[in-house]
Amino acid sequence: MRRNRSLWPAALALVCVATACTRVSPPPPPEAGSGYPARGAQLIEQYGCGSCHTVPGVDRADGLVGPPLTRFGARSYVAGELPNNAENLRHWIEDPQSVEPGTAMPDLGVGPIDAQDIAAYLLTLD
Ligand code: HEC
Repeated sequence: MRRNRSLWPAALALVCVATACTRVSPPPPPEAGSGYPARGAQLIEQYGCGSCHTVPGVDRADGLVGPPLTRFGARSYVAGELPNNAENLRHWIEDPQSVEPGTAMPDLGVGPIDAQDIAAYLLTLD
């Protein structure tokens, strides 16, 4: 699809940093960055994200407390706060309370490497 780049310079810049400009759209579509999606899927199970979230491809991840993470790779925003890209998604998973103080999603003590792999998996869902 042809999209108007001129309206979204800031968004475009973010997409370029995260994705080497492989796709452009308003608002920016995410692309998986670095990280290991298969490991991310295992970590989602281990951290128990599925008790609150429905996550396709992860056993018993059918929680309804938080929003479903279905098709997350096609989402424009993380928690309605940050443009969806690998870096912002990692940041959210590591420390949601710093992105949105008081959010119902708790800090789960996910380290940066684990958060990066989890983000990589979620961004494969589209
Ligand atoms: C105690 C329940 C709970 C757990 C456990 C939990 N979350 Fe969440 N999560 C939430 C809630 C509630 C929201 C909505 C927050 C908001 O929008 O302010 C959320 C939002 C999110 C979002 C943004 C969703 C959107 O639609 O933009 C992502 C991504 C996410 N969580 C990933 C994870 C991952 C990965 C884990 C495991 C490491 C996890 N969550 C564990 C409750 C939880």
